[in-house]
Amino acid sequence: MVSVAILGAAGGIGQPLSLLMKLNAHVTKLNLYDIVNVPGVASDISHVATNSAVKSFLGASKLAEAVTGIDLAIIPAGVPRKPGMTRDDLFKINAGIVKGLIEAIAENSPRAFICIISNPVNSTVPIAAEVLKKQGIYDPKRLFGVTTLDVVRASRFVRDIRPNVDAATLRIPVVGGHSGNTIVPLLSLASTPLDLSETQIAELTHRIQFGGDEVVKAKDGAGSATLSMAYAGARFADSLIRAIKGETVVEPTFIALAADPQGAEEYRKLGAGNLEFFAVPVELSSQGVKRIAPLNGDISSGERQAIAVAAEALATNISTGVAFVTPPP
Ligand code: NAI
Repeated sequence: MVSVAILGAAGGIGQPLSLLMKLNAHVTKLNLYDIVNVPGVASDISHVATNSAVKSFLGASKLAEAVTGIDLAIIPAGVPRKPGMTRDDLFKINAGIVKGLIEAIAENSPRAFICIISNPVNSTVPIAAEVLKKQGIYDPKRLFGVTTLDVVRASRFVRDIRPNVDAATLRIPVVGGHSGNTIVPLLSLASTPLDLSETQIAELTHRIQFGGDEVVKAKDGAGSATLSMAYAGARFADSLIRAIKGETVVEPTFIALAADPQGAEEYRKLGAGNLEFFAVPVELSSQGVKRIAPLNGDISSGERQAIAVAAEALATNISTGVAFVTPPP
């Protein structure tokens, strides 16, 4: 029995994500919330022949009900990028949206796992943490920024130049954050050795960091990644649900390093320093973060440098998020 709420369910990501969660056999209840159009989406999806019950919640007056009695909230609510925008440009609008949604979850399902897709993830996750701290119910093991699309892109883009690897099973740890140069793919630790030249590494790294721009450009004003993001979001949610059910699953995700101070040490030494949040490979369990997974080898000097660059940008993104909820004195 797993009850899931999707907040922003009528959007470009929300709709395919809702469909994919309807196909997840572990999900028994699917609450779809949005401020527009959600009754149609819910009615449509409710006809898919799986056993879960789908319910529609339209508008702010229905938010509390939508997030009552849930195990897991997935949040793709907010505005997406248009050409020329960075994820940080979205902050002004999305910060307030995420804050309001987290307050409702905190009040009505304080033990729910929370997966945040809304950008800029590097700041919206700190916002969520601050809200939960204020409510006195913050558990860093239960709050996740969804960076799975970076992981998905890494394995898919490698496949473009290494046709013998299986994009579906290749695993490349991606650490740092979720925007531009805060995204650090550790290609040297791929689950299959890739034997890449320096030029290939540089090109792949850049493509993984800025892959979202390819989609924004191709959509030409109609938004950012939605279908691949729905796939990535559903994959992360499925990993978490399988972990809740007792499986051991490892996924990189943007979390508070306080979730596992001991496991975090390795990443702090590699360059995360004193950052409160960082994307790391996480072993999930029924408690959320079981532990921060160790890396299975040494990273290259280029990867170390990339982490240093990421850490500097992340420090600003994180403090912007924190200050939105808790302004500095
Ligand atoms: P969209 O504009 O198509 O959909 C957003 C939905 O959120 C709309 O249905 C809108 O009505 C809803 N919404 C707005 N305010 C709301 C509120 N207060 N409560 C509930 N719902 C609300 O946008 P799209 O393309 O689905 O993107 C959503 C977010 O996901 C954006 O912030 C985007 O940047 C982010 N994103 C994150 C990625 C990641 O890897 N984490 C990848 C791609 C996008």
